[in-house]
Amino acid sequence: MLIDTYGRVATDLRVSLTDRCNLRCTYCMPEEGLQWLAKPDLLTDDEIVRLIGIAVSSLGIEEVRFTGGEPLLRPGLVGLVERVAALTPRPQMSLTTNGIGLRRTAAALKTAGLDRVNVSLDTLRPDVFKALTRRDRHQDVLDGLRAAHEAGLTPVKVNSVLMPGLNDDEAPDLLAWAVRHEYELRFIEQMPLDAQHGWKREGMVTAGDILASLRTRFELTAEGAGERGSAPAERWIVDGGPHRVGVIASVTRPFCAACDRTRLTADGQIRTCLFATEETDLREALRSGAADEEIARIWRLAMWGKKAGSGLDDPSFLQPERPMSAIGG
Ligand code: 5AD
Ligand code: SF4
Repeated sequence: MLIDTYGRVATDLRVSLTDRCNLRCTYCMPEEGLQWLAKPDLLTDDEIVRLIGIAVSSLGIEEVRFTGGEPLLRPGLVGLVERVAALTPRPQMSLTTNGIGLRRTAAALKTAGLDRVNVSLDTLRPDVFKALTRRDRHQDVLDGLRAAHEAGLTPVKVNSVLMPGLNDDEAPDLLAWAVRHEYELRFIEQMPLDAQHGWKREGMVTAGDILASLRTRFELTAEGAGERGSAPAERWIVDGGPHRVGVIASVTRPFCAACDRTRLTADGQIRTCLFATEETDLREALRSGAADEEIARIWRLAMWGKKAGSGLDDPSFLQPERPMSAIGG
């Protein structure tokens, strides 16, 4: 079990498969100049499968989420999913992706054993998409979403980040669109994880702003208390149901006290939190021949030291050195 000194138990493992991406979302990556991890530093498929195997058999991990960068850019992803699906006990498996390329791979991923996808899409307007992501790929994302839905990678969740002056007027349009397509929409408050360190609390679009904007067009009823559990999204029933909308208020209503996550970066470092300033190296242990039990011990020890919270509310808050793309969403 991965328990920390606050009594939280991590059952959800996020595995970053690459730090590379085919978009350049302004809240995540700089336009250019980001140093990629070198190939020899990345965990191999065998190493990833071994670590996930230890996590599910000895550490109580029940759910595995592949992230990036953009995980669809990892060669051999379908094979990796297949191997993780064959582990005992078999974890729930999902993918957090920008959707580009999903049109071609959704069916194969489903067959390989993937359960669900979370697709990032912040706008319904191709020109705004281009401004936000610095790439003209809006249609590819829409195509990917449709393919995921058709392949049964459901419920297909859509993650949206609202940025002041760019897409902060789009919340009701996004929700109407999501309801129509049977996607489950969740808004995520922008967090200070951009490579340029340009995040400012003043002017950020808060959960309160998002709900107020949605309520201009929809009737929202809070889902019963207690249903949030360790899920970061607080959910609202839309116009009496059955559709729901989620808001992940990572900044204004942090959910650190109920956090059930542990993270593995593409280069084999354990992070206890998105905002952790320290990492624990598993790759070195792997490559120097450590036995499974030794790796499990290092992982437990790393998680034991997990901090109470992100520290976002602390005046001395320091943004993690790595940008979101290198940590894994
Ligand atoms: N703040 C909030 N969400 C972010 N994401 C990436 N960077 C940030 C940030 N700075 C989102 C992506 C994706 C998910 C993994 O995290 O849009 O949906
Ligand atoms: Fe790529 Fe996701 Fe970062 Fe956008 S947020 S640049 S899609 S890794």
